[in-house]
Amino acid sequence: MSHGHDDLMLNDSQNRHFDQVVTQGLQSENRRSLIKGAFCLTAAAVGFDALPLQAKSTGQGLGFEAVEKLLTDDVMLPPGYQYSVVHATGDAMNFNVPSFTSLGLETDDFTDRIGDQHDGMDIFFIKEQGQYTTKDTGRALLVVNHESSAESAFLHLNGQTSGKKAGLKFDQFGEWDGGVRPELEVLKEINLHGVSITEIRRDERGQWKMVRGSRLNRHITPEAEAVITGPAAHMSDIRDLMVTKKFPKGDRCRGTINNCGMGRTPWGTYLACEENFYPYFSRSNDTRPDARTALAYKRYGVTLEQAKAGAKNSSQGWHTVTGTADDSRFERWDCSIRSNNAAGDYRQEPHTFGYVTEIDPTRADKPAKRVALGRFVHEAAVFGQAVAGKPLAVYMGCDGRNEYIYKFVSKAAWDPKDTGLGIKAGNKYLTEGTLYAAKFNSDGRGEWIELSMSNPSISKNQTFGFKSQAEVLVFARLAADAAGATPMDRPEWGAVNYANGEIYFALTNNSDKFRAPGKTNAVNPRAYQDADGKKRAGNPHGHIIRFKEDGGLGTARAFQWDIFLFGSEDGNRPENLSQLTANNSFASPDGLWFSKATGICWIQTDDSAMTDQSNCMLLAAIPGQVGDGGKVTVQNKLKDQSAAQDTFIGATLGEAKLKRFLVAPFGAEVTGLCETPDGKALFVNIQHPGEATNAKDLLDNNLQSRWPGNRGYGKPGRPRSATIVINREDGGVIGL
Ligand code: FEO
Ligand code: CA
Ligand code: CA
Repeated sequence: MSHGHDDLMLNDSQNRHFDQVVTQGLQSENRRSLIKGAFCLTAAAVGFDALPLQAKSTGQGLGFEAVEKLLTDDVMLPPGYQYSVVHATGDAMNFNVPSFTSLGLETDDFTDRIGDQHDGMDIFFIKEQGQYTTKDTGRALLVVNHESSAESAFLHLNGQTSGKKAGLKFDQFGEWDGGVRPELEVLKEINLHGVSITEIRRDERGQWKMVRGSRLNRHITPEAEAVITGPAAHMSDIRDLMVTKKFPKGDRCRGTINNCGMGRTPWGTYLACEENFYPYFSRSNDTRPDARTALAYKRYGVTLEQAKAGAKNSSQGWHTVTGTADDSRFERWDCSIRSNNAAGDYRQEPHTFGYVTEIDPTRADKPAKRVALGRFVHEAAVFGQAVAGKPLAVYMGCDGRNEYIYKFVSKAAWDPKDTGLGIKAGNKYLTEGTLYAAKFNSDGRGEWIELSMSNPSISKNQTFGFKSQAEVLVFARLAADAAGATPMDRPEWGAVNYANGEIYFALTNNSDKFRAPGKTNAVNPRAYQDADGKKRAGNPHGHIIRFKEDGGLGTARAFQWDIFLFGSEDGNRPENLSQLTANNSFASPDGLWFSKATGICWIQTDDSAMTDQSNCMLLAAIPGQVGDGGKVTVQNKLKDQSAAQDTFIGATLGEAKLKRFLVAPFGAEVTGLCETPDGKALFVNIQHPGEATNAKDLLDNNLQSRWPGNRGYGKPGRPRSATIVINREDGGVIGL
């Protein structure tokens, strides 16, 4: 997501950037269900149906007409494509709540509504009684992360208020001024987070629609109870770190929050990744924590707040509610040390977030926090190819400036018979294993460094002074600092190319504070001035790296890497190393996902560097493989500084293999992607349209976006995040 917190630089470890080393029944709110690719009048290219389904990166070109850079308040698609909205923020999942007003008039009923800020998602097909199946039955559970409350001003009549100030639009790094927040506003804001699970069905016309009132619908909110799991030998130490006033045994915790990217396990469960959990916490009236606790708070962004007007605080002031129902649901967001021990307050509540959280969409089991996969600011958690009899590998990014890429390798070898066993299978594969962080070398090679007490660079490190493996996992960022992992330009989503097993990671951008000439390295090689008037500098457009594990094995300790694509404005510019054109230029790659049906690598953007030319977008790419390009020297220049940087770049794709497929409404990020196995329905999330609307604009009804109400979905009014489903008008495979 694009909010300021992603820009935080919380890594001031001395790790050298390796420059130095190197509907009723069917959802009835959706009256106008089909919205056609709206802008190009030319006919679709001929011969789609003659193309083979399995292009699989064989050099087959993309079969659609590129969407140009656009500034419009709609989802824009190539000719011959159409979309419909599956669900949007606030849609009633059940019949016990009224339809959404789009005016901020709802009560505390978001547990029965779709959450806000649709992000990572996946589709799980179900049989007659709702059991998991890998086959397309035309019935499925759509599982969607609802990331943030940063646009929750739209969900209150007059925006967010605090008792001191009305009509205020808080940002997630907002402007909470220390006043007491109204209980209803806070309850809405808490419960618009989490993960929604809704039944969707394909109707006789091939359209996927939400089933309002399905008994399978549920919304897992930050209030839902979750189970804490981890390696058996270290569970006692892990529980000590999780003890809170509510759960003094440290075996459970409440809910999941800021779920951004996701993962899908080979056994058929959903991984909701917890990204920026720290801004929700307040540390007011704190007694000074000891040095280790203070370092851990700092490294994870849990900052001391100032309750005064004009202070730039990170929390939303949720803890200030002195509400009627006191089960500590407000108090828990204040992690100040206020008692003699951890069981007397919520000092450790932040330890219960920052995980990969496993959810079985088809069963009522409590979500399971998978501590073994480390605690950090999790983006997606993507499995390498599952091979029977071999351990499973999960690749994960930590989104922050100069943060790391991680890998978890299971102890258990994959047994396909575990498919469909839900959380029970997760307990087998996601509790015991080894966590690694990536170190990228300047020669195009890289290595995985083990994060454990058996690594002397961690166990002997004096900066934090790790006392247990539990601390290595719960403070994984500090462990990766000690281990010498490579700080990257904000690792966003990862993805696996199923054609060859290679792993891709979007590195969304970085600033000139960290990327200036002479401060680059081979894997984060650019430092330059953006072309427009916004004066962004550093690596403002981001890039996508990829790597190939040695021997193609998830258990490999080393790999080969290159840079698949460099984001850039188009034109003859030195930073335009991937030779992007007006039809495929992009900035700030974020979501990343490979189609199993077509082999297409889908690239989604969450941009603020190119938004003077175009709203955020979705592009399709047909990649080759690591090493198909060559060595290149980047001539970095910024102000009066210049320096050359060698790196490795993939083969130039050109417009035949890289094209813009979708442009979003104003203010929206494009994120979350999944498809039906035949490649004929593509689900995409449109997050936070109208994001730039401030408090005054809201009160003046001067909104940056009015999508999707302006396209006939739901009641017209304020903008809403939404899941859309895209089809080809001729029913063909998408993208080819
Ligand atoms: Fe929620 Fe880093 O994107
Ligand atoms: Ca994101
Ligand atoms: Ca620009």
